[in-house]
Amino acid sequence: MKITQQTVLQIKDRLDITDVVQDFVFLKKKGQNWTACCPFHHEKTPSFYVNPARNIYKCFGCGKGGDAITFVMEIENYTYPEALKYLAKKYNIEIQTDENLTDEELATQNEREALLILHDFAQNFYKKTLHTHPEGETVGLSYFRERQISDLSVETFGLGYSLDTWDSFTQEAQKNGFSREMLIKSGLTLQTERGTLIDRFRGRVLFPIHNVAGKVIGFGGRILGNDKKLAKYINSPETPIYEKSNILYGISFAKKKIKEQDNCYLVEGYTDVIALHQADIHNVVASSGTSLTMGQIRLIKRFTNHITILYDGDVAGIKASLRGIDLLLEEDLDVKIVLFPDGEDPDSYAKKLGSTAFKDFVENTAEDFIGFKTKLFIKETQKDPLKRAEVIRDIVESIVKIPDAIKQQIFFQTTAQLLQIDEKALMQEGLKISEKIAQQKPKYNNAQNGQNAQNGQSGQSGQNAQNAQSSQNAQNADAQREIENEYFENYYKDENNQNQNLAPQNNNQNQSLAQQQSISLIDKGLAQQEREAVRMLLMYGAEILPFTDEKPLLLYYLNEVADIQFQHPEYAYFIQKWRFHAQMDNVLSMEDFLNIEQNESTNNIEKNIGKIIADLLMEKYTKSVRWEEKLNMDLPTEKDILKKLIPENILRLKLYQIMQLMQENEISLKNAKTEEEEDDCLTVGLYLERQRKQITQQLKMDIFHK
Ligand code: CTP
Ligand code: MN
Repeated sequence: MKITQQTVLQIKDRLDITDVVQDFVFLKKKGQNWTACCPFHHEKTPSFYVNPARNIYKCFGCGKGGDAITFVMEIENYTYPEALKYLAKKYNIEIQTDENLTDEELATQNEREALLILHDFAQNFYKKTLHTHPEGETVGLSYFRERQISDLSVETFGLGYSLDTWDSFTQEAQKNGFSREMLIKSGLTLQTERGTLIDRFRGRVLFPIHNVAGKVIGFGGRILGNDKKLAKYINSPETPIYEKSNILYGISFAKKKIKEQDNCYLVEGYTDVIALHQADIHNVVASSGTSLTMGQIRLIKRFTNHITILYDGDVAGIKASLRGIDLLLEEDLDVKIVLFPDGEDPDSYAKKLGSTAFKDFVENTAEDFIGFKTKLFIKETQKDPLKRAEVIRDIVESIVKIPDAIKQQIFFQTTAQLLQIDEKALMQEGLKISEKIAQQKPKYNNAQNGQNAQNGQSGQSGQNAQNAQSSQNAQNADAQREIENEYFENYYKDENNQNQNLAPQNNNQNQSLAQQQSISLIDKGLAQQEREAVRMLLMYGAEILPFTDEKPLLLYYLNEVADIQFQHPEYAYFIQKWRFHAQMDNVLSMEDFLNIEQNESTNNIEKNIGKIIADLLMEKYTKSVRWEEKLNMDLPTEKDILKKLIPENILRLKLYQIMQLMQENEISLKNAKTEEEEDDCLTVGLYLERQRKQITQQLKMDIFHK
């Protein structure tokens, strides 16, 4: 860790967790706490709590919790030092570092930062060109004026212009000390086959693309005319700071208003976003012409559950994009649609109608998605019964994606009315389709889709790409080791924080003996399950089994327990190490653990790894061998019954975790000082009880039923 402890303490002293979380999630006051729908997993009722007194957050749904630093790490997918830097910036704290880093270390550590600085420089350069260069003024500015983009918008959105020359930007950037390598990495500069550097953007008006925090991370460049032979837009490529699937154009300008209005308008283009702002609609983002990704949906869901899609009026195009909307329904977003008259897009229509009439139009035309879809197809199907059946199936398919049963019910009703068919028949169809979908999905993936998507997509991909690259390169083994060390350092810090902060009541004198016994019972059960998991994974982790989705058991397992934190350090060590390497699709074997090289930074667990592994493998393994030998019969081996053991193990882990939360909650309830606090605990208690019932039902036994 290079940032001094003093700086870390300074940051911790200064920060206020609600303030930090507020920047990402809309919090509602509840008693002494603040609550929201959890940004880390998919849910409908808030179980995410922020406790300002203790400076911690906790989700009673997925179990995630920690302090402001871990929150920033999780949500922005930052490393520990990156999160500290973010917070230092937010609170204007100057960062002190321990050692002087080598150039190389600086380069990798600060790559993202360097790219941000370069983009900031580029934006200023292109802005300056627009306003002060004769070509910028006569070509660029007059283009914006012709498109009725106001001076205020030009300023707000930081619009710019790139000269119609080969390399004016690259030259200027190099003069200002930006390296060739960094310029190419940013995508703002291209290298020709002959090795010369040229600008990516030439003779185009530029729309900077901002991240959630408002930093420029890329550009979209539009040609000035309507030359059909040229690409209308050229965009920045993906870079470590610009992951296209996780960003929406305009989000930094819109996020506050999206929260306030509890609705997000979704348009297609840069110019649509700007036009809507000019029409006094500020809660708007653009998908930049592509279909929505999970990462983008999650981004919207941080701020609202309501989305209104503004469609250009082209029926073919609309039909093509309807599928994508099912994804929104699945994520439990309320989706409305506004359809524009033929040939109009939000930009042109806003200009045609003017602000007030446009706002009225949008509000009055917005229609819920299912109704919209039904009406869209109904006309074509009136005479063709075959087509009609197909359309009905199609619409029902959308309805069954809605996770909320009550909403689903309402949609069955209204759709049945619209289509003039029996509601029961429609629901029958729905049942059939859900069953079909259920068969296609792996069996035990309840409630984790959101989490998986996070890990797979929006999550760590930037970091992953970096890690994967370095792992390919043998020379970089050291660098990787360093990343890994840091990762573990954070992990254990995180663990300590959590234990200190979240379970201080464990030593509370208020606890009855029964409570203490029950806590230790749960703890024992949990330890046993964690141990079992690690043992089975050590033995069979690399095997691809019939139920593991054609992946090695280990990767399947990690996916299934993505939202579970192992709590006993010995076992947590294995899981963390596996998780880290799983990001690169590596399955660490027993031998890999035994071969971990020892040096001064080796931790206690690593020092004893041989003994730990031996202990783990002793019991059952040896027992079962002897059994077989003794009886000399064909008993099913453990491997044969993994299909049963693994899912059971996962469910038990979940169950114990819930029971732990229930314990904590009961204690909080006892200590509650106000009615509001009591209410909170009761709500949480009910939620947990439901979860517990669900899991025990799955296990077909109620081990701890009181
Ligand atoms: N787009 C792109 N590359 C293209 C065309 C479109 O990246 N060759 C993306 C841009 O983000 C664009 C969005 O798709 O903003 C929507 O495309 P379109 O509606 O054609 O562009 P507008 O933004 O409406 O631009 P204009 O009004 O200037 O034609
Ligand atoms: Mn347009």
